[in-house]
Amino acid sequence: MSQFSNVIQRKGTRSVKWDYAEQLYQDKDILPMWVADMDFQVPEAVISDLKERVDHGIFGYTMPDENVKHTIIEWLSKRHQWKIKEDWITYSPGVIPSLHMTIQALTNKGDHILIQPPVYPPFYSVINDHERKVVKNPLIYNKGRYTIDFEDFEKQIIENEVKMFILCNPHNPVGRVWNEEELLKMGEICLNHNVIIVSDEIHADLVLDEHKHLPVASLTEKLNEQTVTCFSPTKTFNLAGLQASYLVTSSKDKREKIKSHFDKQGMHMLNTLGLTAMESAYLHGEDWLEGLLETIEANRDFVMEQFEENTNQIKVLPLEGTYLLWMDCRSLNMSQAELKSFMQKQAKVGLNDGVSFGEEGEGFMRMNLAAPPNIIAEGVNRILNAIREKPKA
Ligand SMILES: Cc1ncc(COP(=O)(O)O)c(C=O)c1O
Repeated sequence: MSQFSNVIQRKGTRSVKWDYAEQLYQDKDILPMWVADMDFQVPEAVISDLKERVDHGIFGYTMPDENVKHTIIEWLSKRHQWKIKEDWITYSPGVIPSLHMTIQALTNKGDHILIQPPVYPPFYSVINDHERKVVKNPLIYNKGRYTIDFEDFEKQIIENEVKMFILCNPHNPVGRVWNEEELLKMGEICLNHNVIIVSDEIHADLVLDEHKHLPVASLTEKLNEQTVTCFSPTKTFNLAGLQASYLVTSSKDKREKIKSHFDKQGMHMLNTLGLTAMESAYLHGEDWLEGLLETIEANRDFVMEQFEENTNQIKVLPLEGTYLLWMDCRSLNMSQAELKSFMQKQAKVGLNDGVSFGEEGEGFMRMNLAAPPNIIAEGVNRILNAIREKPKA
Protein backbone atom coordinates (compact mmCIF):
# COMPACT_ATOMS: atom_id res chain seq x y z
CA MET A 1 0.00 0.00 0.00
CA SER A 2 1.34 3.41 -0.93
CA GLN A 3 2.11 5.73 1.92
CA PHE A 4 -0.44 8.12 0.45
CA SER A 5 -3.23 5.59 1.11
CA ASN A 6 -2.46 5.27 4.80
CA VAL A 7 -5.09 6.85 7.02
CA ILE A 8 -3.28 8.25 10.03
CA GLN A 9 -5.19 9.46 13.08
CA ARG A 10 -4.47 13.15 13.53
CA LYS A 11 -7.00 13.94 16.23
CA GLY A 12 -5.28 14.69 19.50
CA THR A 13 -2.08 16.01 17.88
CA ARG A 14 -3.10 19.68 18.26
CA SER A 15 -3.83 19.63 14.53
CA VAL A 16 -5.60 22.79 13.39
CA LYS A 17 -7.27 20.84 10.59
CA TRP A 18 -8.61 18.01 12.77
CA ASP A 19 -8.72 19.19 16.38
CA TYR A 20 -9.90 22.72 15.77
CA ALA A 21 -12.46 21.59 13.15
CA GLU A 22 -14.87 20.35 15.80
CA GLN A 23 -15.00 23.80 17.37
CA LEU A 24 -15.07 25.65 14.04
CA TYR A 25 -17.82 23.58 12.43
CA GLN A 26 -19.56 22.83 15.74
CA ASP A 27 -19.88 19.14 14.99
CA LYS A 28 -17.79 16.27 16.28
CA ASP A 29 -18.54 14.17 13.17
CA ILE A 30 -17.35 16.78 10.66
CA LEU A 31 -14.87 15.48 8.07
CA PRO A 32 -12.15 18.16 7.83
CA MET A 33 -11.33 19.06 4.21
CA TRP A 34 -10.37 22.65 4.80
CA VAL A 35 -7.09 24.33 5.87
CA ALA A 36 -4.14 23.69 3.54
CA ASP A 37 -2.12 20.98 5.17
CA MET A 38 -1.98 17.33 4.22
CA ASP A 39 -3.01 14.12 5.95
CA PHE A 40 0.20 12.44 4.77
CA GLN A 41 3.40 11.63 6.60
CA VAL A 42 6.45 13.50 5.38
CA PRO A 43 9.25 11.68 3.48
CA GLU A 44 10.92 8.92 5.50
CA ALA A 45 14.31 10.66 5.21
CA VAL A 46 12.90 13.82 6.80
CA ILE A 47 11.55 11.84 9.75
CA SER A 48 14.88 10.11 10.16
CA ASP A 49 16.92 13.34 9.94
CA LEU A 50 14.60 15.00 12.45
CA LYS A 51 14.96 12.02 14.81
CA GLU A 52 18.72 12.21 14.55
CA ARG A 53 18.64 15.91 15.33
CA VAL A 54 16.25 15.35 18.26
CA ASP A 55 18.47 12.59 19.63
CA HIS A 56 21.28 15.10 19.90
CA GLY A 57 19.18 16.67 22.64
CA ILE A 58 20.50 20.22 22.53
CA PHE A 59 18.36 22.87 20.83
CA GLY A 60 20.28 26.09 21.33
CA TYR A 61 20.35 29.05 18.93
CA THR A 62 20.79 27.70 15.45
CA MET A 63 22.16 29.35 12.33
CA PRO A 64 21.24 28.46 8.78
CA ASP A 65 24.62 27.77 7.21
CA GLU A 66 25.72 27.72 3.58
CA ASN A 67 24.59 24.09 3.16
CA VAL A 68 20.96 25.04 3.59
CA LYS A 69 21.34 27.82 1.04
CA HIS A 70 22.92 25.39 -1.40
CA THR A 71 20.01 22.96 -1.09
CA ILE A 72 17.59 25.83 -1.80
CA ILE A 73 19.63 26.95 -4.84
CA GLU A 74 19.74 23.37 -6.14
CA TRP A 75 16.01 22.88 -5.60
CA LEU A 76 14.99 26.03 -7.46
CA SER A 77 17.38 25.23 -10.26
CA LYS A 78 16.27 21.60 -10.60
CA ARG A 79 12.52 22.03 -10.16
CA HIS A 80 12.01 25.50 -11.65
CA GLN A 81 15.10 26.10 -13.82
CA TRP A 82 15.79 29.30 -11.90
CA LYS A 83 19.42 29.93 -11.04
CA ILE A 84 19.55 32.20 -8.03
CA LYS A 85 22.52 33.52 -6.07
CA GLU A 86 23.21 32.81 -2.42
CA ASP A 87 22.80 36.37 -1.26
CA TRP A 88 19.34 36.69 -2.84
CA ILE A 89 17.91 34.50 -0.05
CA THR A 90 16.39 35.85 3.19
CA TYR A 91 14.97 33.34 5.69
CA SER A 92 11.55 33.73 7.24
CA PRO A 93 9.40 31.64 9.59
CA GLY A 94 6.58 31.63 7.03
CA VAL A 95 5.12 33.19 3.94
CA ILE A 96 2.55 35.17 5.92
CA PRO A 97 5.29 36.75 8.08
CA SER A 98 7.17 37.46 4.82
CA LEU A 99 4.15 39.29 3.40
CA HIS A 100 3.77 41.33 6.59
CA MET A 101 7.45 42.31 6.55
CA THR A 102 7.62 43.05 2.83
CA ILE A 103 4.59 45.31 2.93
CA GLN A 104 5.98 47.25 5.87
CA ALA A 105 9.46 47.43 4.38
CA LEU A 106 8.56 48.46 0.84
CA THR A 107 5.35 50.53 1.09
CA ASN A 108 4.01 53.37 3.21
CA LYS A 109 0.81 53.81 5.21
CA GLY A 110 -2.06 54.67 2.89
CA ASP A 111 -0.42 53.03 -0.16
CA HIS A 112 -2.60 50.94 -2.45
CA ILE A 113 -1.83 47.26 -2.99
CA LEU A 114 -3.39 45.16 -5.75
CA ILE A 115 -4.71 41.60 -5.38
CA GLN A 116 -6.71 39.26 -7.64
CA PRO A 117 -9.79 37.88 -5.89
CA PRO A 118 -11.09 35.37 -5.15
CA VAL A 119 -7.78 34.93 -3.35
CA TYR A 120 -6.12 33.54 -0.22
CA PRO A 121 -7.77 35.43 2.68
CA PRO A 122 -4.61 36.65 4.48
CA PHE A 123 -3.81 38.77 1.38
CA TYR A 124 -6.53 41.13 2.62
CA SER A 125 -5.41 41.18 6.26
CA VAL A 126 -1.71 41.68 5.55
CA ILE A 127 -2.66 44.83 3.67
CA ASN A 128 -5.30 46.13 6.10
CA ASP A 129 -3.25 45.34 9.22
CA HIS A 130 -0.63 47.90 8.18
CA GLU A 131 -3.08 50.59 7.10
CA ARG A 132 -2.47 50.06 3.41
CA LYS A 133 -5.44 49.87 1.06
CA VAL A 134 -6.71 46.83 -0.89
CA VAL A 135 -7.30 47.35 -4.62
CA LYS A 136 -9.01 44.51 -6.46
CA ASN A 137 -8.49 43.19 -9.95
CA PRO A 138 -11.02 40.33 -9.87
CA LEU A 139 -10.24 37.31 -12.00
CA ILE A 140 -12.61 36.61 -14.89
CA TYR A 141 -14.63 33.41 -14.55
CA ASN A 142 -15.81 32.22 -17.93
CA LYS A 143 -16.86 28.74 -19.07
CA GLY A 144 -15.37 27.07 -16.03
CA ARG A 145 -11.96 28.73 -16.24
CA TYR A 146 -10.35 31.73 -14.57
CA THR A 147 -8.31 34.26 -16.52
CA ILE A 148 -6.88 37.72 -15.90
CA ASP A 149 -8.60 40.95 -16.83
CA PHE A 150 -5.46 42.78 -18.04
CA GLU A 151 -7.26 45.94 -19.02
CA ASP A 152 -8.71 46.28 -15.54
CA PHE A 153 -5.33 45.29 -14.04
CA GLU A 154 -3.69 48.34 -15.62
CA LYS A 155 -6.68 50.60 -14.99
CA GLN A 156 -6.69 49.78 -11.26
CA ILE A 157 -2.95 50.41 -11.07
CA ILE A 158 -3.20 53.81 -12.76
CA GLU A 159 -6.36 55.04 -11.04
CA ASN A 160 -5.23 54.03 -7.55
CA GLU A 161 -1.51 54.76 -8.00
CA VAL A 162 -0.87 51.19 -6.88
CA LYS A 163 2.57 50.62 -5.33
CA MET A 164 2.59 46.86 -4.91
CA PHE A 165 0.94 43.80 -6.45
CA ILE A 166 0.63 40.54 -4.51
CA LEU A 167 0.56 37.73 -7.05
CA CYS A 168 -0.58 34.25 -6.09
CA ASN A 169 1.09 31.70 -8.37
CA PRO A 170 -0.11 28.96 -8.50
CA HIS A 171 -3.34 30.61 -7.51
CA ASN A 172 -5.14 29.64 -4.32
CA PRO A 173 -8.10 28.98 -4.52
CA VAL A 174 -8.81 28.91 -8.29
CA GLY A 175 -6.02 26.42 -9.04
CA ARG A 176 -4.53 28.20 -12.06
CA VAL A 177 -0.82 27.98 -12.82
CA TRP A 178 -0.18 31.27 -14.62
CA ASN A 179 1.56 30.77 -17.97
CA GLU A 180 4.48 32.72 -19.44
CA GLU A 181 2.29 35.00 -21.53
CA GLU A 182 0.10 35.92 -18.57
CA LEU A 183 3.07 36.50 -16.28
CA LEU A 184 4.94 38.62 -18.83
CA LYS A 185 1.86 40.72 -19.51
CA MET A 186 1.28 41.43 -15.79
CA GLY A 187 5.01 41.94 -15.33
CA GLU A 188 5.23 44.47 -18.13
CA ILE A 189 2.36 46.52 -16.72
CA CYS A 190 3.96 46.48 -13.27
CA LEU A 191 7.32 47.56 -14.71
CA ASN A 192 5.69 50.36 -16.72
CA HIS A 193 4.04 51.78 -13.61
CA ASN A 194 6.80 50.92 -11.16
CA VAL A 195 4.69 48.51 -9.13
CA ILE A 196 6.64 46.13 -6.89
CA ILE A 197 5.62 42.51 -7.40
CA VAL A 198 5.41 40.26 -4.37
CA SER A 199 4.95 36.79 -5.73
CA ASP A 200 3.60 34.20 -3.30
CA GLU A 201 4.85 30.96 -4.82
CA ILE A 202 4.30 28.70 -1.82
CA HIS A 203 2.46 26.23 -4.10
CA ALA A 204 5.23 26.29 -6.76
CA ASP A 205 6.12 22.62 -6.39
CA LEU A 206 2.51 21.46 -6.43
CA VAL A 207 1.89 21.64 -10.15
CA LEU A 208 -0.09 18.93 -11.93
CA ASP A 209 -0.15 17.20 -15.32
CA GLU A 210 1.80 18.99 -18.03
CA HIS A 211 1.63 22.37 -16.31
CA LYS A 212 4.85 24.13 -15.51
CA HIS A 213 5.45 26.59 -12.72
CA LEU A 214 7.37 29.69 -13.79
CA PRO A 215 8.70 32.02 -11.10
CA VAL A 216 7.76 35.45 -12.45
CA ALA A 217 11.13 36.81 -11.30
CA SER A 218 12.94 34.23 -13.43
CA LEU A 219 11.49 35.54 -16.70
CA THR A 220 13.58 38.68 -17.22
CA GLU A 221 16.30 40.55 -15.35
CA LYS A 222 14.07 43.58 -14.92
CA LEU A 223 11.31 41.46 -13.42
CA ASN A 224 13.85 39.88 -11.10
CA GLU A 225 14.81 43.31 -9.74
CA GLN A 226 11.13 44.31 -9.43
CA THR A 227 10.00 41.16 -7.60
CA VAL A 228 10.21 39.61 -4.16
CA THR A 229 9.30 35.90 -4.30
CA CYS A 230 8.10 33.95 -1.29
CA PHE A 231 8.86 30.23 -1.29
CA SER A 232 8.57 27.50 1.28
CA PRO A 233 9.05 23.75 1.57
CA THR A 234 6.24 23.64 4.15
CA LYS A 235 3.32 23.34 1.70
CA THR A 236 5.19 20.91 -0.59
CA PHE A 237 6.33 18.57 2.16
CA ASN A 238 3.68 19.08 4.85
CA LEU A 239 5.94 20.88 7.31
CA ALA A 240 3.76 23.90 8.15
CA GLY A 241 4.07 23.33 11.90
CA LEU A 242 7.86 23.62 11.66
CA GLN A 243 7.83 27.11 10.20
CA ALA A 244 10.74 27.53 7.83
CA SER A 245 10.60 29.47 4.58
CA TYR A 246 12.48 32.07 2.58
CA LEU A 247 12.22 35.06 0.28
CA VAL A 248 14.23 35.58 -2.89
CA THR A 249 15.08 38.82 -4.63
CA SER A 250 18.02 39.99 -6.68
CA SER A 251 17.29 43.58 -5.60
CA LYS A 252 19.82 44.49 -2.91
CA ASP A 253 17.80 47.50 -1.87
CA LYS A 254 14.57 45.51 -1.33
CA ARG A 255 16.46 42.74 0.44
CA GLU A 256 18.14 45.07 2.88
CA LYS A 257 14.90 46.84 3.72
CA ILE A 258 13.06 43.55 4.28
CA LYS A 259 15.91 42.08 6.31
CA SER A 260 16.00 45.17 8.48
CA HIS A 261 12.28 44.76 9.21
CA PHE A 262 12.76 41.15 10.24
CA ASP A 263 15.63 42.21 12.51
CA LYS A 264 13.59 44.99 14.08
CA GLN A 265 10.93 42.44 15.08
CA GLY A 266 13.59 40.21 16.58
CA MET A 267 13.04 37.65 13.85
CA HIS A 268 16.55 36.84 12.72
CA MET A 269 16.65 33.13 13.37
CA LEU A 270 14.86 29.98 12.24
CA ASN A 271 13.53 27.04 14.17
CA THR A 272 16.23 24.37 14.59
CA LEU A 273 13.99 21.50 13.46
CA GLY A 274 12.48 23.59 10.65
CA LEU A 275 15.94 24.05 9.16
CA THR A 276 16.73 20.34 9.43
CA ALA A 277 13.43 19.45 7.77
CA MET A 278 13.84 22.01 4.97
CA GLU A 279 17.30 20.76 4.08
CA SER A 280 16.33 17.11 4.32
CA ALA A 281 13.15 17.50 2.26
CA TYR A 282 14.95 19.35 -0.53
CA LEU A 283 17.79 16.83 -0.53
CA HIS A 284 15.79 13.61 -0.29
CA GLY A 285 12.14 14.41 -0.99
CA GLU A 286 11.83 14.36 -4.77
CA ASP A 287 10.53 10.80 -5.19
CA TRP A 288 8.05 11.35 -2.38
CA LEU A 289 6.89 14.54 -4.14
CA GLU A 290 6.29 12.65 -7.39
CA GLY A 291 4.14 10.15 -5.48
CA LEU A 292 2.25 12.99 -3.84
CA LEU A 293 1.51 14.69 -7.16
CA GLU A 294 0.16 11.42 -8.60
CA THR A 295 -2.08 11.04 -5.56
CA ILE A 296 -3.44 14.57 -5.87
CA GLU A 297 -4.10 14.09 -9.60
CA ALA A 298 -5.91 10.80 -8.90
CA ASN A 299 -7.96 12.40 -6.10
CA ARG A 300 -8.85 15.32 -8.35
CA ASP A 301 -9.91 13.03 -11.21
CA PHE A 302 -11.98 10.91 -8.83
CA VAL A 303 -13.83 13.92 -7.40
CA MET A 304 -14.45 15.35 -10.89
CA GLU A 305 -15.81 12.03 -12.18
CA GLN A 306 -18.02 11.48 -9.17
CA PHE A 307 -19.61 14.91 -9.42
CA GLU A 308 -19.90 14.71 -13.21
CA GLU A 309 -21.62 11.31 -13.05
CA ASN A 310 -23.87 11.91 -10.09
CA THR A 311 -24.96 15.54 -9.98
CA ASN A 312 -25.30 18.57 -12.18
CA GLN A 313 -25.37 20.86 -9.17
CA ILE A 314 -21.66 21.00 -8.37
CA LYS A 315 -18.94 21.63 -10.93
CA VAL A 316 -15.31 21.37 -9.99
CA LEU A 317 -12.78 23.53 -11.75
CA PRO A 318 -9.83 22.04 -13.62
CA LEU A 319 -7.00 21.96 -11.12
CA GLU A 320 -3.62 22.91 -12.61
CA GLY A 321 -1.76 23.51 -9.36
CA THR A 322 -2.13 23.34 -5.55
CA TYR A 323 -4.13 20.57 -3.86
CA LEU A 324 -7.11 22.82 -3.29
CA LEU A 325 -10.17 22.18 -5.41
CA TRP A 326 -12.47 25.10 -6.18
CA MET A 327 -16.06 23.95 -6.51
CA ASP A 328 -18.79 25.89 -8.27
CA CYS A 329 -21.91 25.16 -6.22
CA ARG A 330 -24.12 27.86 -7.72
CA SER A 331 -26.50 25.35 -9.32
CA LEU A 332 -27.53 24.25 -5.84
CA ASN A 333 -29.42 27.58 -5.82
CA MET A 334 -28.63 28.42 -2.23
CA SER A 335 -27.59 31.63 -0.54
CA GLN A 336 -24.03 31.52 0.79
CA ALA A 337 -25.32 31.02 4.33
CA GLU A 338 -27.50 28.13 3.14
CA LEU A 339 -24.62 26.59 1.18
CA LYS A 340 -22.31 26.77 4.20
CA SER A 341 -24.92 25.26 6.44
CA PHE A 342 -25.73 22.55 3.87
CA MET A 343 -22.09 21.41 3.63
CA GLN A 344 -21.61 21.63 7.37
CA LYS A 345 -24.87 20.32 8.79
CA GLN A 346 -26.28 18.08 6.06
CA ALA A 347 -23.11 16.76 4.39
CA LYS A 348 -20.91 17.11 7.49
CA VAL A 349 -17.84 18.08 5.52
CA GLY A 350 -15.60 20.93 6.66
CA LEU A 351 -14.85 22.94 3.52
CA ASN A 352 -13.56 26.51 3.15
CA ASP A 353 -16.32 29.01 2.53
CA GLY A 354 -15.99 30.63 -0.93
CA VAL A 355 -16.66 34.16 0.32
CA SER A 356 -13.75 33.99 2.76
CA PHE A 357 -11.67 34.52 -0.42
CA GLY A 358 -13.66 37.66 -1.28
CA GLU A 359 -17.21 38.32 -2.42
CA GLU A 360 -16.16 36.96 -5.84
CA GLY A 361 -16.20 33.51 -4.19
CA GLU A 362 -19.93 33.57 -3.62
CA GLY A 363 -21.52 30.24 -4.57
CA PHE A 364 -18.18 28.41 -4.31
CA MET A 365 -16.50 26.16 -1.74
CA ARG A 366 -12.90 24.92 -1.51
CA MET A 367 -11.99 21.30 -0.85
CA ASN A 368 -8.58 20.05 0.31
CA LEU A 369 -7.54 17.03 -1.78
CA ALA A 370 -4.36 16.19 0.13
CA ALA A 371 -5.73 13.20 1.97
CA PRO A 372 -5.81 9.43 1.40
CA PRO A 373 -8.29 8.40 -1.32
CA ASN A 374 -10.58 6.79 1.31
CA ILE A 375 -11.05 10.12 3.03
CA ILE A 376 -11.69 11.90 -0.26
CA ALA A 377 -14.25 9.25 -1.25
CA GLU A 378 -15.96 9.63 2.12
CA GLY A 379 -16.17 13.41 1.68
CA VAL A 380 -17.58 13.15 -1.83
CA ASN A 381 -20.13 10.52 -0.72
CA ARG A 382 -21.28 12.71 2.11
CA ILE A 383 -21.86 15.61 -0.28
CA LEU A 384 -23.62 13.45 -2.90
CA ASN A 385 -25.86 11.85 -0.26
CA ALA A 386 -26.78 15.25 1.12
CA ILE A 387 -27.72 16.39 -2.41
CA ARG A 388 -29.86 13.26 -2.92
CA GLU A 389 -31.65 13.82 0.37
CA LYS A 390 -32.19 17.51 -0.30
CA PRO A 391 -35.88 18.33 -0.71
CA LYS A 392 -36.67 19.18 -4.34
CA ALA A 393 -37.27 22.86 -4.90
C1 LIG B 1 -1.06 31.21 -1.08
C2 LIG B 1 -0.61 30.91 0.32
N1 LIG B 1 0.32 31.69 0.91
C3 LIG B 1 0.75 31.45 2.17
C4 LIG B 1 0.25 30.40 2.91
C5 LIG B 1 0.71 30.19 4.32
O1 LIG B 1 2.08 30.31 4.44
P1 LIG B 1 2.85 30.11 5.80
O2 LIG B 1 2.23 28.94 6.50
O3 LIG B 1 4.25 29.85 5.37
O4 LIG B 1 2.72 31.39 6.56
C6 LIG B 1 -0.71 29.56 2.33
C7 LIG B 1 -1.28 28.45 3.10
O5 LIG B 1 -2.24 27.84 2.73
C8 LIG B 1 -1.14 29.82 1.00
O6 LIG B 1 -2.05 29.04 0.40
